[in-house]
Amino acid sequence: MSNKLLTLIVNGDTHKFFDVPHHETLADLLRDRLQLTGTKIACDEGACGSCTVLVDNVPTLSCMTLAHTVEGKKVLTIEGLKNGNELHPIQEAFAEERGFACGYCTPGFVMTTKALLDKEPNPSDETIKEALAGNICRCAVYEHIVDAARASAEKLNGGE
Ligand code: FES
Ligand code: FES
Repeated sequence: MSNKLLTLIVNGDTHKFFDVPHHETLADLLRDRLQLTGTKIACDEGACGSCTVLVDNVPTLSCMTLAHTVEGKKVLTIEGLKNGNELHPIQEAFAEERGFACGYCTPGFVMTTKALLDKEPNPSDETIKEALAGNICRCAVYEHIVDAARASAEKLNGGE
C-alpha cells in the first residue's frame, strides 16, 4: 500500500505530511516529525497511558493509534496546553501538589485529567480515580496525582 498525504491539526496548527507510512503511529509522528516529545512512549502497547493525547477532545492512546486514522482531526498534546509562557492550571496544580516523581507518566495523566474536567468540572475523588485508572505511574505517586487532579478542578472553577 502506498503512503498517503496526511493532514492533522495539532495544537491549533494545520500540518500536512506527504510521506507517512500506513503503519506509523500518532505517537511516532508527534515525536519524530513535529518534535513534540512531551508525549511519552513507555509500554508502546496500550497498557500504561503515558502516550495519551486528546483527539477531538477524547483521550487517546497515541501509541495504539495509526496516524492516518486521525486524518483531519484536532490533536491536543501537552505542549498545546500552556498559554505562551503560562502553564495551564492543570499543569500548575500537578507542580504544586507534586503529582509526579520522575515525571515520565505526567503528560498522560495531565491530558487525561483535562479530558475529565472538560466533561465533569466537579468530579468526586472516586470519579477522578476511575477516569485515571488507565494511566499507570511506576513511581506510584497516585495519592499526589489524585490531589493534583482535585486541585486542578478547584483552579479551573476559580479557586487558588
Ligand atoms: S505508551 Fe501508549 S499506552 Fe503505554
Ligand atoms: S512519576 Fe514516575 S512513572 Fe509516574
